[in-house]
Amino acid sequence: MKYYIQTLGCAMNYSDSERVAAALGKLGHSPAKKESEADLYIFNTCSIRQKGEDRVYGKLMTLGERKQREKDLLIGITGCMVRKTSTKKSPREKMDKLVRDLKPVDFVFRIEDAGELGKILKMAAKKPSVRAINKAAKAKRIRGAAKAAREIVTDSVDRLDYLDIAPKYSSGFQAFVPIQIGCDKFCTYCIVPYARGREQARPIKEILAECRTLVEKGCKEITLVGQTVNSYGRSDLDKKSGHAYGRGFVETLTKSAQLQFAKEPFVALLTEVDKLHAQGLNRLRFTSPHPYDYSDALIKAHAKLKTLTPHFHIPVQAGSDETLKRMNRRYSAADYKKLIKKIRALIPDASVTTDIIVGFCGETKKDFEKTLKLYKDIKWDMAYLARYSPRPGTVSQKFFKDDVPRAEKARRWHALNTVLTKSSRDYNKKLIGKTLEVLVEKYDARTNECEGKSRENKLVQFPAPASKGLSLVGTIQKVKITKALEWNLKGEIR
Ligand code: 5AD
Ligand code: SF4
Repeated sequence: MKYYIQTLGCAMNYSDSERVAAALGKLGHSPAKKESEADLYIFNTCSIRQKGEDRVYGKLMTLGERKQREKDLLIGITGCMVRKTSTKKSPREKMDKLVRDLKPVDFVFRIEDAGELGKILKMAAKKPSVRAINKAAKAKRIRGAAKAAREIVTDSVDRLDYLDIAPKYSSGFQAFVPIQIGCDKFCTYCIVPYARGREQARPIKEILAECRTLVEKGCKEITLVGQTVNSYGRSDLDKKSGHAYGRGFVETLTKSAQLQFAKEPFVALLTEVDKLHAQGLNRLRFTSPHPYDYSDALIKAHAKLKTLTPHFHIPVQAGSDETLKRMNRRYSAADYKKLIKKIRALIPDASVTTDIIVGFCGETKKDFEKTLKLYKDIKWDMAYLARYSPRPGTVSQKFFKDDVPRAEKARRWHALNTVLTKSSRDYNKKLIGKTLEVLVEKYDARTNECEGKSRENKLVQFPAPASKGLSLVGTIQKVKITKALEWNLKGEIR
């Protein structure tokens, strides 16, 4: 079969899709060049906001129409809309309404079951037609079978097992490497702990093996991904399993390195990956850390480790302590400010970015003013702004009132966006005249321009002759910045 995977959402989803692609490849399926040529369509979904789920519903309408003409088209869903990853499996969870209501869908699987795709596809292909289901349902025979064909979940696998699938990376020089699954923080607005289950660390031995293989094949930039990467190895499940993340590896280290693992597992992991610098690893990134777990040792690691980039994406979410408390964020605005001060003291050129939610339940105009004030104080050079979107099943949706009107959410979003635009432009202007190292990601033959990111994660474009442009992709170039726009920089190769 020819497959097409559409991915929405975060780095974790993009990384997961690379594993789904590899699993399909192993089964003999190949990627379709165009979506319309695919006879297997897989949606890797995101539930962070309603907008993401609406995109899935919209797309399924079009796919449903296509399925009327192409009866053999198989449609599968995975990712956060499949709420099966909780460590508890109540009968109610098994009756996931979303799953039952998505009409043109042939099969639904938890991402942890990606390794079982062979079995899942066979079951999906054998799915009885709606007429057959109705007929059999009347005869009370295959109700179970019909349900199984719609909600395929194999409960037998270990949640971490799917990470063993060697991914089909979408790039040869940049890669996402997952280091943990799930989240234990339970921010009151967030669906992730319900969609992805409890936090569990991937064993360090496996992370390092994946990083090593990548670097051997020429990978220059690795991004470690997880929901709260800097709590790596510290979750309840990890503690219960006796630090399984390190078993079989930590024992091979010197006593002092073992001590570092016990005290600061994430910093110890970064230190190990950083050693790949000698083999050609140029950049090490991670996303996303949580402010609560940002230790001094981690800040120091940024100054010490060669490959760690000077980019700090640290979600703040709000500037009012009352709002932060209701969000269950575990820090105050002052704590966050202190953290950024420490970072900037040690790494003066650091690029600091964040995520902010406006219009959370109970956020007054005064509360919002505090977010604006914090923005003006900290001057993040980039931020991802979201309007609060109630997610069914979360604490905020169940117990708080979504009381900021839609128009007021929009007003707050625009007010912050104005400050953000200025702050981003100001940061970019400071880079004029400087020479940045750019990892070239693409070349556009129409404009004769190369594009890539600096170590600070800034988007940089520079002209390149047609004869050379394509060969620069995947290389690191020194680019002198000549012009600063709001969201990107222009420069010249040196
Ligand atoms: N509504 C709006 N934004 C949300 N985010 C997470 N949950 C919600 C929600 N219910 C945002 C947060 C998080 C980012 C990935 O998505 O800012 O950091
Ligand atoms: Fe969601 Fe909070 Fe976990 Fe981030 S830390 S994934 S916002 S629950």
